[in-house]
Amino acid sequence: MQAIKRTKVIDVLRRTDYGATVNVKGWVRTRRGSKSVNFIALNDGSTIQNVQIVADVERFDEETLKQITTGACLSVNGELVKSPGAGQASEIQATEIEVLGTCGADFPMQKKGQTFEFMRQNAHMRLRTNTFGAVFRIRHNMAIAIHKYFHEHGFFYFHTPIITASDCEGAGQMFQVTTKNLYDLRKTDDGKIDYSDDFFGKQTSLTVSGQLEGELGATALGAIYTFGPTFRAENSNTPRHLAEFWMIEPEVAFNDITDNMDLAEDFIKYCVQWALDNCQDDLAFLNKMVDHSLLERLHFVVEHDFVRLTYTEGIRILEEAVKGGRKFEFPIYWGADLASEHERYLVEEHFKRPVILTDYPKEIKAFYMKMNDDGKTVRAMDVLFPQIGEIIGGSEREENYDKLMTRIEELHIPMKDMWWYLDTRRFGTCPHAGFGLGFERLILFVTGMQNIRDVIPFPRTPKSAEF
Ligand code: 4AD
Ligand code: MG
Repeated sequence: MQAIKRTKVIDVLRRTDYGATVNVKGWVRTRRGSKSVNFIALNDGSTIQNVQIVADVERFDEETLKQITTGACLSVNGELVKSPGAGQASEIQATEIEVLGTCGADFPMQKKGQTFEFMRQNAHMRLRTNTFGAVFRIRHNMAIAIHKYFHEHGFFYFHTPIITASDCEGAGQMFQVTTKNLYDLRKTDDGKIDYSDDFFGKQTSLTVSGQLEGELGATALGAIYTFGPTFRAENSNTPRHLAEFWMIEPEVAFNDITDNMDLAEDFIKYCVQWALDNCQDDLAFLNKMVDHSLLERLHFVVEHDFVRLTYTEGIRILEEAVKGGRKFEFPIYWGADLASEHERYLVEEHFKRPVILTDYPKEIKAFYMKMNDDGKTVRAMDVLFPQIGEIIGGSEREENYDKLMTRIEELHIPMKDMWWYLDTRRFGTCPHAGFGLGFERLILFVTGMQNIRDVIPFPRTPKSAEF
């Protein structure tokens, strides 16, 4: 076969220099045809669009044509021609075809219309489908948008550790990291596990959040953000929880809760607008095949202000709804943690807009949040989104050393591992605020996918760590 420099499908479809000789490589999506001519839809992942290869049967031997089945990998040389068919500008009249990799009939993505559940069991191959191609191109674009947004706004990308000795959220949902022999654990005299001979000489885990170290960055560099993997051993088998997910955590010195809300709203709108501007083909596909109201929802979010109200006001609305006959699975009262159904009621039924809820009871929020003057609520904020529920959680931080210590003691948080964090409050403390955006929840929103397992290439959930 003649050696010709490869052109990506995305680029070949833009070319109009008809008559040129080109090479494309990719995987067969479909092949149809007659006795005299075959039409092969070839995709190389660079775009959701396929390039059509026209192969005159008489030019190719039977053996080659037989191997051109769905999923097979081809290298094609041919002439770029203007397509007579509707829907595509150019196609390739093949002169040479090499089958780089044949594909058997047991290729799991052979048939159209497989369920998402089936595709999850074949997550290693689902990447080759239109839907997952679209989702993961959008996921990439969202990561770019996030870095671009913060870079343009003077934030520094700050790397926080993945292995840590402190439980930021204090929820006890950490995966341990150890090199100890789990079948022969040395115990101390009082029966506890002795970590002194472990790799780090103390008990360590995978981080649930980069926030505490992020606060150190913010109180030195002014404004930082993290963007990394986080891990939670919460046994919640829901369409919105992963054991390993990616989180973006901006933290800003001198910001209060209002600045924090403004930042969250501006940031998330920027990301959604970025998708609308840069992922048109993939969004159009998802809007057609997965969720018909997707584009409408994305436009709605960038065009409308988010509603801002306190937790207490939110509870009042929910209690009114219950009085009016609205049924919820979980009880609702002041002090209760909101379930996804409550969050979605406020967003989808009551306000019909994204909502930022603030000033939650201190009992249901983490120790580091700034106490309000009422002594009962803290300056927390959750951003609640249609279809998703909580997409962002954040707060103004307690910058007062004594007040922070009081909370740490009330909650029996082990102090000895926290001295470095407390030092921020001893040496030039300052007001500051930040939040965490769950990356996969953003991707859920932007793609219209229903299950968080379908927006990360290789999901980790309870009892599932395949691939
Ligand atoms: O509300 P969370 O727990 O807040 C924090 O971790 C803070 N340290 C953030 C901060 O203030 N810097 O988590 C933040 C976000 C949630 O709003 C949600 O979007 C996402 O992370 N999240 C998860 N996403 C997927 N799977 C899980 N198990 C998640 N837990 C939280
Ligand atoms: Mg939260």
